[in-house]
Amino acid sequence: MSNPIGVALLGCGTVGSEVLRLLTEQSTELAARVGAAVRLVGVAVRRPWRHPEVPAELLTTDAAELVGRDGVDVVIEVIGGIEPARPLLLAALRAGRGVVTANKALLAECGPELYAAADAAGADLYFEAAVAGAIPLLRPLRESLAGDRITRVTGIVNGTTNFILSAMDSSGAGYAETLEEAGRLGYAEADPTADVEGYDAASKAAILASLAFHTRVTSADVHREGIAEVSAADILAARKLGRTVKLLAICERVLDSAGTEWVSARVYPAMIPRSHPLATVGGAYNAVFVEADAAGALMFYGQGAGGAPTASAVLGDLVAVARNRVAGGYGPRESAYADLPVRPMGDTPTSYHISLEVLDRPGVLARVAQVFADHEVSIMAVRQTGRTPEHALSGNAGSGNAESGGVGSDNAGSGGAGATLVIVTHSAPDAALRSTVDKLAGLDVVRDVVSVMRVEGEVT
Ligand code: HSE
Repeated sequence: MSNPIGVALLGCGTVGSEVLRLLTEQSTELAARVGAAVRLVGVAVRRPWRHPEVPAELLTTDAAELVGRDGVDVVIEVIGGIEPARPLLLAALRAGRGVVTANKALLAECGPELYAAADAAGADLYFEAAVAGAIPLLRPLRESLAGDRITRVTGIVNGTTNFILSAMDSSGAGYAETLEEAGRLGYAEADPTADVEGYDAASKAAILASLAFHTRVTSADVHREGIAEVSAADILAARKLGRTVKLLAICERVLDSAGTEWVSARVYPAMIPRSHPLATVGGAYNAVFVEADAAGALMFYGQGAGGAPTASAVLGDLVAVARNRVAGGYGPRESAYADLPVRPMGDTPTSYHISLEVLDRPGVLARVAQVFADHEVSIMAVRQTGRTPEHALSGNAGSGNAESGGVGSDNAGSGGAGATLVIVTHSAPDAALRSTVDKLAGLDVVRDVVSVMRVEGEVT
């Protein structure tokens, strides 16, 4: 056995307390796996009196002192947020300590700075728990797939929003009441902003894109839209098309017409076919679909949050870092050699589903189609559903939904009656699709834009 590996734990909340439990309960197995005893040196918390589970002699409120204390080999950070985690981890790395962190916001914002400090000191920086909790994902991207060419990563990486969208899909209920229920059941935090507005998923997308494409991608590079605007009408429209709505983190290589390769990283709710592997991911679960040239399609699935699942990933990293120290080396460095430019969202090819309530009279479909043509957006499919009586034209997606026609089924002589047009486009630059929708909304023959949502998982 080598000399013991000293561990400092920063934070002892939901994840930290589980890290502490696993460290204690599995100390014998951990020592055998590492080849050295793993010894907890201290636990830094803000309010020590709230932690009767931690031996008093280990507790401290001085995290900086703990990080610099003799005998600390590895610092585990589960505080979250940028401050004070950033200076603490920089100090740890500069002092040559290995760092294990679950802090996605910090990695997504300050990753290059942390990597530089780790490189300079020859220290380890591991962060498996930062994306998709317990799911082994970052190590497969960073190591197992290091010999392949990853083309696309599509993930459900936020459990809160997946719980809400899954519940909306099965109940037909609206966003606000479902969010309230998620809060009551403990699936949404008191302030759910980071989750429902997509910030959490955007941080994770930045980390995934950086690893997958060997390029520095920060959270500021990620286009972000949350789920607060997803309506029951959107969910219903998706259902009618054999799709479901998921908040996706999408990271892909995009080749433009000039042959330049770009990275696109984006987070938004999108309709995916119910047959897509990600469509079956319900409740608060996470899953990430990875496509690579040689490996083909891979799916990673499991619990993306929670104390014990996240602690599992933290402990896995701790074992890796401890083994590296016993062996006298360190693990993978930052790999950003590809340095691909980040594609602006407006130029990124996407596909849209658009549901419109229109007047049902000759020439309306032609007017609508002309708007698409004017923006060089190609239509993949059009369906006209139902003829809505004039008095029922109220912008409700559920109205007049009995199928009555197909492409070009304009009906003459309908007076003030209306119909619902459902249009799915081929892929086109996102800005062109946005402008198309804006223009459609202003047409006198369009009574209401009922639902607009991107579609993913299609062959276009
Ligand atoms: N709040 C996140 C989620 C878990 O809902 O998935 C931590 O990243």
